[in-house]
Amino acid sequence: MTRPGDDRPMMDHSYDGIQEYDNPMPRWWLLLFAVTIIFVPIYYLMPGDIGAGGQRDEMYAKEIAAFKAEHPDFGKSTVTAEGLAAIVSDPSQVAAGKAVFGATCASCHQADGGGLIGPNLTDNNWIHGGTPMEIHATITNGVLAKGMPPWGTLLKPEQINAVTAFVRSLQGTTPKSPKAAEGVVTNPDGTAIDSTVAPAKKS
Ligand code: HEC
Repeated sequence: MTRPGDDRPMMDHSYDGIQEYDNPMPRWWLLLFAVTIIFVPIYYLMPGDIGAGGQRDEMYAKEIAAFKAEHPDFGKSTVTAEGLAAIVSDPSQVAAGKAVFGATCASCHQADGGGLIGPNLTDNNWIHGGTPMEIHATITNGVLAKGMPPWGTLLKPEQINAVTAFVRSLQGTTPKSPKAAEGVVTNPDGTAIDSTVAPAKKS
């Protein structure tokens, strides 16, 4: 219904007496709409790090290359034999490693290192070598073919150092249900007794 005296234009249709004003959308609004439509393809194709024309891959590769040039050691273990020896003899590191071991390794090695799916870590028999550096490498790289996951990408470097310290500290302890020894007998400090017998290669 139109009010008396209202002479604004009406649409032609009338449904059960209900009519509609003929109100076109404001010109500025229509223009804005057109501008956004034109903007999209330009935005999408614009060089830069947006859209399909943005060479995102090249920009990513460039940034990564620059980062790697600045941090050549990124992601690589920077642990040295001396550094690791200090960590292994630090009781607070052993304690930190025990927490990591309980959460991450005990399912396969038992909390006391007695062995389950994984070998007994308390004896001085080692499949892949028993020195801190060798243990560190085994933990980092894993032995995927034998069911030992590579932890290098899953744990932080400090966690791997600490858990190495904990594994070394298990040496000579008596677990509740020890698994039979596997690997080569070493000196108690993990060094090879017979230097002609190399620890098994990790695949
Ligand atoms: C899914 C099971 C599994 C988990 C989890 C696991 N391990 Fe193992 N681990 C194994 C198996 C299986 C082997 C034996 C590999 C072989 O026979 O070569 C092994 C071997 C090892 C060895 C080498 C022993 C030797 O005699 O040379 C060390 C050290 C070790 N694990 C430490 C760890 C630590 C530390 C963790 C936790 C961060 C861990 N493992 C978690 C299954 C596991």
